[in-house]
Amino acid sequence: RQAGAPSFHESAEKHVTGKAAYIDDLKAPSDALHVALGLSPVAHGTLTAMDLEAVRQASGVVDVITFHDVPGHTDIGPVFPGDPIFVDQEISYAGQCLFAVAATSLQAARRAVTLAKLSFDEQPASLDPVIAAERNEVVRPTHVQQRGDWHAALSQAEQTIEGELFVGGQEHFYLEGQACLVLPTEDEGVIVHTSNQHPSETQKLVAEVLDIPFHAVIVEVRRMGGGFGGKETQASPWACVAAIIARRTGKATRLRLPRSDDMRATGKRHPFHNRYQLAVDTQGVIQGGDITVIGDCGYSPDLSDAIVDRAMFHADNAYSLGSARVTGHRAKTHTASNTAFRGFGGPQGMMIIEAAMDDIARKIGEDPLTIRKRNFYRKGRDVTHYGQQVDQKQLLHTLVETLEKSSGYWARREAIKSFNTNSPIIKKGLALTPVKFGISFTAQHLNQAGALLHVYTDGSILINHGGTEMGQGLHTKICQVVARELGLDLDSVRISATRTDKVPNTSPTAASSGADLNGMAARDAASKLRERLFDFAAMHFEGGLDREGMRLENGMLIAGIAESERRIPWGELVQTAYLNRISLSENGFYATPLIHYNRATGQGRPFYYYAFGAAVAEVSVDTLSGEYLVDRVDVLHDVGNSLNPAIDIGQVEGGFIQGMGWLTSEELKWNTKGALVSDSPATYKIPTFGDLPPIFNVELLEGHPNSMASLYRSKAVGEPPFMLGICVWSALRDALSSLTDYRVSPHLDTPATPERVMLAANAIRDKS
Ligand code: MTE
Ligand code: MOS
Repeated sequence: RQAGAPSFHESAEKHVTGKAAYIDDLKAPSDALHVALGLSPVAHGTLTAMDLEAVRQASGVVDVITFHDVPGHTDIGPVFPGDPIFVDQEISYAGQCLFAVAATSLQAARRAVTLAKLSFDEQPASLDPVIAAERNEVVRPTHVQQRGDWHAALSQAEQTIEGELFVGGQEHFYLEGQACLVLPTEDEGVIVHTSNQHPSETQKLVAEVLDIPFHAVIVEVRRMGGGFGGKETQASPWACVAAIIARRTGKATRLRLPRSDDMRATGKRHPFHNRYQLAVDTQGVIQGGDITVIGDCGYSPDLSDAIVDRAMFHADNAYSLGSARVTGHRAKTHTASNTAFRGFGGPQGMMIIEAAMDDIARKIGEDPLTIRKRNFYRKGRDVTHYGQQVDQKQLLHTLVETLEKSSGYWARREAIKSFNTNSPIIKKGLALTPVKFGISFTAQHLNQAGALLHVYTDGSILINHGGTEMGQGLHTKICQVVARELGLDLDSVRISATRTDKVPNTSPTAASSGADLNGMAARDAASKLRERLFDFAAMHFEGGLDREGMRLENGMLIAGIAESERRIPWGELVQTAYLNRISLSENGFYATPLIHYNRATGQGRPFYYYAFGAAVAEVSVDTLSGEYLVDRVDVLHDVGNSLNPAIDIGQVEGGFIQGMGWLTSEELKWNTKGALVSDSPATYKIPTFGDLPPIFNVELLEGHPNSMASLYRSKAVGEPPFMLGICVWSALRDALSSLTDYRVSPHLDTPATPERVMLAANAIRDKS
């Protein structure tokens, strides 16, 4: 069960028996306070008066705070300023925090919030990112990447093809909402328990808001009930608010957002408006072109600079764009500040080129799979528009050829064509789409990690690292790494909560790099400790042990070979080392080599490597009502040498379904005044058990280690499979296209709800 072998999640049993503790399960002192928030009903305008007297007088209320009660920094923007902890005067979105109430019960706090007397000078909300971008109303400057003469490519093209697409946003819908519990310490500090992907950033912001040094704040995360990017920056504000109250009152303070507050107050996946104009030859191979993506960032920068960059980095997906320009705008609108979500802009960027692949196929009259394969990165066409060479590009070909066969693509294509000829209303569709996803934080400094390893005198091991557990199995993998390095069974290695006082200055657990970075740091710590024990054993044991070839296996130190072989049990080794005053604790560190990106030129090597995958979906569409079913899905995904195939398959399955939900049923709706109306599970539909395709074959590509020196030649798995869900959307377009005998490519914005599918069917019938 060491790294490389399947093993179930370290908390699997606790998850399914309800014993795993989430924030709300943590015991707090009986006088702990509960916080409720007053959120703005108005999307844009000025807060002209806020009378909180009745709120303060309400029964059970202990404290009420506003902008003016913040002792330190009031701007808690994570990377760039722009996020006030409370509204001072200017209101930027419906759901923005106006004040907070602490009471002896959550009910009392929530009841008191409703007693506030608020007046606003309401202004029209700007909700259209395309108009905002045209007016240069942006949260960050526009960025451009270009390589070769895209202009010449378009003007000399044999043919050009163009299109545009709206790609919807997505609510994270983590099962555990935003939550924290803050305990004041005996000095000026706080201990913050939080459901959080970025404990170090919360530590910093809490310290700044309280105006105390960072070392006075300890942030602890045992596990999250899902994060998906939604707790990278969006967990901090609540910790800051609760920390202020805890310091003011001297009481433990709980803050848990009710689901509808959570959905209104926190940012989501960015909706995007994308446009392309491509030069293609007679074979449908792209020669160059011009792509524009407009990310709807909401009211503030948050992580949008990096997210729109990642959309741009993935505007090629698996295909060479030739001489191309990619432009990314960061539009400012009056909604919550959109944020990280699995894929981090990559999925939205890829959608434009996947749309183009289908469009080119219809124009040329070839199968979309043929067009995709012709455009794949290959020898001679293997440098991206941002200047990175695509290593292991042959895996795209391998994956797709294997999947084509195993899924019976071409036979099913024929069967579907004849089915459709005889079925006027129900139309079937089929699509195979690939994924190429860049692994690394595009902000270079984030690509570092630390670990802290302790061996106790009974031989048991405790490992800490900078990553957080959100269900993805990171802690399991890290324990497996340590077990492998020290030749022990997994049971000997335990992980405790992530804490900022154990491993400091950590990066967020994000960009799928949790295992890559922290696993390497843990491995560094374990291997340093192992070498120290080897040095000790070589000197210490009776007669001396052969240092060369010494190894740790199955709980034994083994030295020498054949008759001269000596075996010392791990427990004895550790005990003896302790008695001889050898340190049994070690730090580990890792920084990813090679990567760089020059934002001034838009060129570089932002990714250490790429992860690949491919998926095929078959759908049946009722072209009168727009309702549809996903009948079958086949997935083949590249994780290099898997660190844990059981967990990796789970990640691929979960990622696929979440991606499918994003493109099909999950629809965010705002009213014309900018208030989110899809703010509960009754109005926002994530996939459920019944939405799983009845045939769902998921496999990992075997025998292709990472070509880069990653952790045991593995590859990151957290985000890349999300984008495999694109095949469902493409299959829906395929089914609709059959209405025109595959001559017209339907326009289908996302999410492709039955309503949108029906409208697209009507539109395409009119064209044929
Ligand atoms: N899997 C589960 N079960 N829950 C999650 O919240 N988040 C995803 C992915 N898989 C997530 C998940 C996201 S957005 C990322 S970036 C990675 O896990 C982060 O973890 P890793 O870097 O350890 O893969
Ligand atoms: Mo994941 S969006 O990088 O947290």
